[in-house]
Amino acid sequence: MLLVLNGPNLNRLGKREPGVYGTLTLEELERQCELWGTELNTTVTCRQSNFEGQLLEWIQDAEEHGFSGIVINPGALTHYSYALRDAIAGQNVPVVEVHISNVDAREAFRHQSVTAAVCKGKISGLGFAGYRFAMEYLVEEVGE
Ligand code: DQA
Repeated sequence: MLLVLNGPNLNRLGKREPGVYGTLTLEELERQCELWGTELNTTVTCRQSNFEGQLLEWIQDAEEHGFSGIVINPGALTHYSYALRDAIAGQNVPVVEVHISNVDAREAFRHQSVTAAVCKGKISGLGFAGYRFAMEYLVEEVGE
């Protein structure tokens, strides 16, 4: 059972900087993740929040709630949230970080991720497909 988390401003997908993030909405991304979950024989729960503390609580509670892997796009929190980093580091469920855009090809402040080092890995720049690859990794490689 996988948890797919999207952080701040990702509720604005489709409207927000479409040249960078595309024209599809968060709802479409979440439906796609659920379909990919069906293909991978796993159940997917998708959640989005603009609030850092809410994301921390979902991560803290993931194992107790039966999740075996987490895909997270932390949005801009990626670049500065030590609280998010500590929440990921302080629990046992494997986490893969995903970015829709290629953060390394953008502004310098996006080149730093304070969260990637405590994740299994990071996928950046592959659009929505990055979520699919992260889910495949969690199901196939980690075996959950
Ligand atoms: C993002 C990249 C971040 O730098 C940005 O703050 C986002 C979205 C992405 O998916 O490409 O909100 O995580």
